[in-house]
Amino acid sequence: TIEEKEELNKLVRSVEDFPEKGVIFRDITTALKDKKGLEIIIKDFTDRYKNKGIDYVVGADARGFIFGAAIAYNIGAGFVPARKPGKLPAEVESVEYSLEYGKNSIEIHKDAFEKNSKILIVDDLLATGGTAEAMVKLVEKLGAKVYELAFMIELVDLKARDLLKGYKVYTQLKY
Ligand code: PRP
Ligand code: HPA
Repeated sequence: TIEEKEELNKLVRSVEDFPEKGVIFRDITTALKDKKGLEIIIKDFTDRYKNKGIDYVVGADARGFIFGAAIAYNIGAGFVPARKPGKLPAEVESVEYSLEYGKNSIEIHKDAFEKNSKILIVDDLLATGGTAEAMVKLVEKLGAKVYELAFMIELVDLKARDLLKGYKVYTQLKY
């Protein structure tokens, strides 16, 4: 509900000049530690994605794991972690993406999904969309299909939706 979104909005802490000067960091830990806040977040995602035939929820390292596993459990899907490089032990597929300075990559186990599996991608926050775009590429490289991407927070000015056009994107709070 709108009331719940307003309540949730109040629980996100904004920290100025973190991690560097000029940035306003949206801190979700204050919403997560609040039992009503955590309930609002997870229930909203669960209501949206239950009974949609989603096979796997893919969560992004590290904060996407917090929401991803809870949603997967609630909707009766499996959970697959997309991890920072060098963390997964078996054979991986890997996609590189650009950061403000330099690049990073993200990896998923090659045998994570059956072909044509229906996938929900989850993370805490959508900023430039670089991480999300890399996750979409990974899922598709492995022969699975992206159903939608879900985030608690969207930083609207960074225009990640342009990068993700053609894909459905759902966000609970916009800044
Ligand atoms: C943050 C956030 C998203 C990503 C969003 O993670 O949790 O995954 O950045 O940014 P983008 O839309 O510009 O790609 P970070 O890489 O800081 O890792 P962490 O979860 O380990 O803190
Ligand atoms: N908050 C949390 N994570 C982030 C942010 C932010 O404002 N920007 C990019 N990653």
